[in-house]
Amino acid sequence: MELYCGNIVYSKSKNELVEYSNAYIAVENGVVEGIYETLPEKYKRLPCKDFGEDVIIPAFTDLHVHAPQYPQRSLAMDEVLVDWLDKYTFPLEAKYKDVEFAKAVYDSFINEIIAQGTMHAVVFGTIHNEATGYLIDQLEKKGISSYVGKVNMDMNSPDYLCESTESSIRDTEKFIDKYINNKYSKPILTPRFAPTCSDTLLEGLGKIAKKYKVGIQTHIEESIWESNEALKQHSNSNCDMEIYEKAGLLDNGPVIAAHFIFPKEKDIDILKRYNGYAVQCPDATVNVIAGIMQTGVLMDKDVNLGLGSDISAGYDLCIHTQIAQAVQLSKIKSFYEPENRKISFAEAFYMGTKGSGKLFGNVGSFEQGYSFDALVISGVSDEFEELSPIQKIERFCGLGNKSNIRARFMRGQEI
Ligand code: GUN
Ligand code: FE
Repeated sequence: MELYCGNIVYSKSKNELVEYSNAYIAVENGVVEGIYETLPEKYKRLPCKDFGEDVIIPAFTDLHVHAPQYPQRSLAMDEVLVDWLDKYTFPLEAKYKDVEFAKAVYDSFINEIIAQGTMHAVVFGTIHNEATGYLIDQLEKKGISSYVGKVNMDMNSPDYLCESTESSIRDTEKFIDKYINNKYSKPILTPRFAPTCSDTLLEGLGKIAKKYKVGIQTHIEESIWESNEALKQHSNSNCDMEIYEKAGLLDNGPVIAAHFIFPKEKDIDILKRYNGYAVQCPDATVNVIAGIMQTGVLMDKDVNLGLGSDISAGYDLCIHTQIAQAVQLSKIKSFYEPENRKISFAEAFYMGTKGSGKLFGNVGSFEQGYSFDALVISGVSDEFEELSPIQKIERFCGLGNKSNIRARFMRGQEI
């Protein structure tokens, strides 16, 4: 049994944050046993690590991130999606044919997500099996709860980053087969997006989904261009989600739909039917996509929502800034389209912790039985006015950075 003392903040439900001042959190075998305002007699003789005025919060979940794009973060942010992909992102991803290049980047990427307080992630690799294999191996070694995908693209892609349909299916099956029994970092199907994947490819992936019981991550209704292009290439479907449903890709594992900015009613119905997750990526949305998710509306329809850093369409790997920006964007959205309500800080925090963490089980909160994956946030107070624990976390999300994360715990172990 370990005991920690300090301020504590976590999400109880999607719109309710709870806070404790100078309370105790008891952790047994890496799992939260309870939170106590006064310590029960039975624990009084145990040593307690005291974090003083600092705030203990759940570690973050990044539901959409491109590991290979790490070297490009915050660059080329004056382009929009198609040009950004063609001019910068596709040439960068082609470099992962070189495994030595991949190893160097992926080592840095993993160190940095931990530094930023992310302990659960859904990650894109590239089309390359060997490089993506290194990525999933290292995430597994570090014990980061994750889903990792070898990307598929067999059309509308530059020659230097395009697979044949057959090799794409074959390499994907090899990748899934090799990593299916991983404990922490699991393989997931990753067709890049509908414009770059043929129906034959998606049907092939659907068979793999069924055989290995694996889920899918992709970009869904991400921009008007993407949406139109997808239906041009897949004329039997009426919306993005239907393309994947028809290919049998939604009923064998988790479904992660990045962006979901321009969903049709049918997209929402299908996503809900398969208990999928829609992922808002606030920085990416502003930088290369230029559309805003209807977070309030989707939340009220009980769609599972999470946040993604989406580097390198997003600036950086941090989720705490995305929490603050999810609130900002919801207000802009509701100003221009009043039928979209704004969201609260509590709702945005839930999106970055408990709401997205549930993809990985009891993760993202400190209720009894939840994994003690935690961050200790410090250095956000000033001398003017005393802040409540929740206010300290609001400030961290608005103006903090990784240097404010004083300690990190994964399954109860300090790392
Ligand atoms: N759509 C297809 N590929 C990508 C990508 O790499 N990043 C983003 N944000 N959108 C995409
Ligand atoms: Fe993306």
